[in-house]
Amino acid sequence: MGKGFGYAKTILLGEHFVVYGLPAIGAALSKKIEIEVTKAPHMKIEAAHADGKLLLGLEAAKKSMKITENFNVKIKSEIPIGSGLGSSAALSVAFVRAVADESKMFITDHEISKHAYESERVFHGVPSGIDNTLATQGGAILFQKTQTGAEITPLKIGRPLNLVIGNTGKKRGSTEDIISAVKARRDKNPEIYNDLFNAEKKMIDSAVTAISSGKIEDLGEFMNINHGLLCSMGVSSRENEMIIYAARDLGALGAKITGAGCGGSCTILAKNEKNAEEIANEIRKLGFIAITSLVQ
Ligand code: MEV
Repeated sequence: MGKGFGYAKTILLGEHFVVYGLPAIGAALSKKIEIEVTKAPHMKIEAAHADGKLLLGLEAAKKSMKITENFNVKIKSEIPIGSGLGSSAALSVAFVRAVADESKMFITDHEISKHAYESERVFHGVPSGIDNTLATQGGAILFQKTQTGAEITPLKIGRPLNLVIGNTGKKRGSTEDIISAVKARRDKNPEIYNDLFNAEKKMIDSAVTAISSGKIEDLGEFMNINHGLLCSMGVSSRENEMIIYAARDLGALGAKITGAGCGGSCTILAKNEKNAEEIANEIRKLGFIAITSLVQ
């Protein structure tokens, strides 16, 4: 039997912008997806959400790894699937690791992420690659897509980040559809979108400094501005705003959608552990799912 895991992630700044080659900041969560594979006559996935697309995605990773054997795939997930927390990337990375383990194949993190990206392409069209990078290596990173791959800079965390992830339990459209809708809006108003893109670009260096020097109040402010820009791009929803305003009412330093948006999840930067628990409880009272996660 081969075993593998992949981390769930949150994006602190820059989802959607990252698809257009702008820098983004992301962090892996302590939550994981774990996979066990055993050789089998046919590919078989044991999971409630298994469908044809999932199978095609895993086949793409296998092809990239030059593996021709089939597997029985058992999935154990600590995060909701399809909720903006990089579940598909965590799953792809876990699968690649498990297959490499079962096939006694030595594999580097760079190769794991590369093979997992082939699954991600099946799931999401032309994803930026930030999700599979974080799912593979963990930690917090500054990520920028380049013509040949990506520039990845690990970030130092000056003061632990008490995060709350609020999950709406709903998502309007696939990540691929939401990315296409944003592209259509940008094509309609390119000059206005350039201004939005410039605003995001201007925050990134200061946000990196805020993270590394522990100025979490400043980071929270950048997250709030980022959410405003994402709202302008049409990727928030009523449920996202309910979570975000519940968190802000309880003094959250920053609150924004995370991932593709239009439902899915929100990331909240709380003042401290106690504040994170209060916010998580309030989100649950509204009928949504909430988890706390410490990034350090
Ligand atoms: C990533 O979790 C969400 C998007 O930025 C898509 C991507 O980067 O591939 C919307």
